[in-house]
Amino acid sequence: MHILFNHIKKYIKIILFSILSIFFVSSSNAELTVEEIVKSRQALFSKNYSTAKRVQAFSSKGDFEKAKKLMIEMSENYKVLIELFPESTEDEFDTEALPTVWEEKDAFNALMTKASEDMIKLTTVIEDADDIRGTLKQFMWSNCKACHSRYREEH
Ligand code: HEC
Repeated sequence: MHILFNHIKKYIKIILFSILSIFFVSSSNAELTVEEIVKSRQALFSKNYSTAKRVQAFSSKGDFEKAKKLMIEMSENYKVLIELFPESTEDEFDTEALPTVWEEKDAFNALMTKASEDMIKLTTVIEDADDIRGTLKQFMWSNCKACHSRYREEH
């Protein structure tokens, strides 16, 4: 039952995110409500998390073409995410983002950009990597941790 609920929750998030994506194309973020911005960044992080797990699975199986496609998708998602932290969304709607995001906006944005760029680097090194797990850790997972440890609440 719990698993089913989590699945439903996940799909609701994906649907919500898809609807919001349409808004991004047709209008600027300024027209989204604060709640929509917080919810859409959370949905996008969740999506990146499930995509990262698929990147890991495909890479481990040696299915690099599929893995690389998803790496590029994650890289693009980070570029959207960087725009989803306007001042008005600090401390709103159960956000787990810490005030440090806004206190150190340049450093936060730099980490997001690094995370995005590292996913592209990953597409160029993964196939020839001797240590797949270690390479994924270096270019993908370590960026999650580096950012969360300073900019996201303990959960
Ligand atoms: C540059 C910073 C940064 C990077 C890089 C980053 N995150 Fe996050 N992440 C955040 C912040 C900030 C939040 C809190 C967002 C909120 O609640 O408004 C968050 C929230 C999340 C959430 C919770 C979403 C929800 O439903 O509330 C998940 C899951 C997550 N991140 C996974 C990841 C994974 C996996 C990676 C790496 C592949 C990653 N993040 C990379 C900053 C980052």
